[in-house]
Amino acid sequence: MQKATNIHPIFDRLLQRDDREQRLKQHSKVLWLTGLSGSGKSTIAQALERKLHNEGYFPQVLDGDNIRTGINSNLGFSLEDRKENIRRIAEIAKLYLQSGIITLNSFVSPTREIRAFAKDIIGADDFIEIYINAPLEVCEARDVKGLYKKARNGEIKGFTGIDSPYEAPHSPALEIRTDQLSLEESVEQIYKFILDRISL
Ligand code: ADX
Repeated sequence: MQKATNIHPIFDRLLQRDDREQRLKQHSKVLWLTGLSGSGKSTIAQALERKLHNEGYFPQVLDGDNIRTGINSNLGFSLEDRKENIRRIAEIAKLYLQSGIITLNSFVSPTREIRAFAKDIIGADDFIEIYINAPLEVCEARDVKGLYKKARNGEIKGFTGIDSPYEAPHSPALEIRTDQLSLEESVEQIYKFILDRISL
């Protein structure tokens, strides 16, 4: 792909992030929920979004299934496409970050390299990695979307955890075991963890 030239970013003339954070009465952050399909990322992100909203914060969920039907509809599930998927999402999350908004990013983001790439784009200070962890057997037994069955049948190739890798984070900011906690407990743990970080 050709690199953009003759581009003159105007970011320094825009309202600053701090101005927007003051308006929204919060510190913006990127919560990056990683985990297997069926681990509970999206369910937690949606419930946490609702809770933050009810508590007076201004959050926004960015979710694999939504983004992949819109801006990333031209991408598949090769590792190369997943990396491009995550690159675009990280750039979008960064724009939200500059707008003072807390994003809840729910993406498999299967490899350490891909997540390091996202962290690099967003900036380490604002990137909070949360590992939504349930063993593969549990995710497969849940099979909410029926995709594990298809992957086992060979109807889907390169499915994460089956014939495409998932590398668990070495040192996430937080790990949530969804096979041991209820949805409410999972949301509460994350909420407590981020409260200091998002409060002005
Ligand atoms: S990522 O690997 O690029 O981060 P993303 O989170 O956007 O993935 O999308 C994952 C979702 O796409 C899964 O929850 C599942 O519903 C669906 N999906 C379809 N095919 C695959 C596949 N081969 N591997 C993983 N998820 C898949």
